[in-house]
Amino acid sequence: MSTETVSTRPFPDQKPGTAGLRKKVVVFQQPGYLENFLQSIVDAAGNYRGATLVAGGDGRYFNDQAIQTLARIAAGNGVERLIIGRSGLLSTPAASHLIRTRRAAGGLLLTASHNPGGPDGDFGIKVNTASGGQASESMMEAVYRHTRSISRYLTAAVGPVDLDRTGESRYGPLTVEIVDPVAEYAALMERLFDFGGIRSLFAGGFTARYDAMHAVTGPYASEILHRRLGLPADWILNAVPLPDFGGGHPDPNPVDAADLMSVMTGDDPPRFGAASDGDGDRNMILGPGMVVSPGDSLAVMTAMATEIPGYRKGLAGVARSMPTSRAVDRVAAALDIPCYETPTGWRFFCNLLDDGRIDLCGEESFGTSSSHVREKDGLWAVLFWLNLIAVTGKSVPEIIQAHWRRFGRNAFSREDYFIADAGIGDDLLARLEASVSTMIGTRCDGRPIRQADVFEYEDPVDGSVSGHQGVRVVFEDDSRIVFRLSGTGTAGATLRIYLERRIEDGPLLCRPAVELNAPLSQAARSIASVGDLTGLSSPTATV
Ligand code: G1P
Ligand code: ZN
Repeated sequence: MSTETVSTRPFPDQKPGTAGLRKKVVVFQQPGYLENFLQSIVDAAGNYRGATLVAGGDGRYFNDQAIQTLARIAAGNGVERLIIGRSGLLSTPAASHLIRTRRAAGGLLLTASHNPGGPDGDFGIKVNTASGGQASESMMEAVYRHTRSISRYLTAAVGPVDLDRTGESRYGPLTVEIVDPVAEYAALMERLFDFGGIRSLFAGGFTARYDAMHAVTGPYASEILHRRLGLPADWILNAVPLPDFGGGHPDPNPVDAADLMSVMTGDDPPRFGAASDGDGDRNMILGPGMVVSPGDSLAVMTAMATEIPGYRKGLAGVARSMPTSRAVDRVAAALDIPCYETPTGWRFFCNLLDDGRIDLCGEESFGTSSSHVREKDGLWAVLFWLNLIAVTGKSVPEIIQAHWRRFGRNAFSREDYFIADAGIGDDLLARLEASVSTMIGTRCDGRPIRQADVFEYEDPVDGSVSGHQGVRVVFEDDSRIVFRLSGTGTAGATLRIYLERRIEDGPLLCRPAVELNAPLSQAARSIASVGDLTGLSSPTATV
């Protein structure tokens, strides 16, 4: 089979964001667009000649076609073996695990995570390296530079690859291995958690719901929660993956996981609820009538990790992204283990994990995981909580409240402002960055500001420095506001404002975070002149 060299012209907009390249499906459908990006990955990021690569996606619209293009470009560039999840499906954490266990040179994940799907929705590609984690900022920058000057891509007329039959086939020089996307991941979960204990919990009448949001975790939940652990099949909501996620927004948050929320806040709610996102790396944990804040979830997991078989021997350290609540910092201090503060985006945790410095990490955006893979992991978090409930015999609210009584609470909420004109968002942030040095010692709405800065991170493992990672404003009472712009959107700009208030004890301990943070929300609007600069009088979304 011959390799063909096809001449092409650069597209100017292939700049990756927080997690790979995300664009509207119609943008990806332009002739040469996907080919250019894939070729740029090969040329700039990886020497894949003779290598094994893992590929799969979250099943969104264009997933199946993109896999075929990927196979042709892989063959054209001398890739020896492609390991693909059956039907082109692989959750992000399962892909990370496969890359590691199969010693692949890397992986290409076809996903736009929690962004909407369907022909009018979004598509995306994430690049993972041999460690199973996302490619570094500098590597993605090199890919972007390459896309700006690309003049040819290499392809071979292989396929179409039969995605539905597991096993090995040869397509010219390329071997394609179609694998069950769930099997190895499920085996890993069985090694980490006490499946017997969780099975007994369900056998004893414990009620629960899991919302797969018509995304990739449907088959994973059916195998692990239903077949192996005994959760009744009809307690898994939206279990069938659909190319448009059933028209929904596959993001496990109280607004988008509406089906689950209505069950959990209705009459006689189940005792446990959970959801995951498009590609299976996010999680939301609920108790009857309550959502566990992701920062609290990470803090609880850290405090109770030794209750779980896979973490019995304790944690080397923990990490959280900068905007994530500092609840876990308190636990780490009590356990006398290091707690790292990294920029937003999972890839910053990977060096710390590879270097053995941390075992658990998390982000406020409903992402938590551990050293078992190099991505965040939705179902893993669900199993962690179920295991905690099984060993302690306590309910979700009991676990959370006991935690707050012991460590105090960092009440956390986030407000997102969607700004149609991206330039206005950039301007707002630039003004904030310019004003930090003059803020310290001043007051905002009567509150003295103790610290204000632009977050910069120096990776302790490789020494790389990432600047402009958000603006932090901390008040005398340790309340904190963080401002940053989203790096995952495909249009306009989204200003994220993260609010956090420390409550030591007393009658406020269990009040809703949004209520507790209302004064901080006002302060944030005034510090950033949100109304004047954007014309928006209230957030587009409050999480
Ligand atoms: C968002 C989240 C971030 C997460 C990323 C990928 O990025 O805030 O924590 O790592 O999605 O899931 P953002 O849109 O804020 O750049
Ligand atoms: Zn995701």
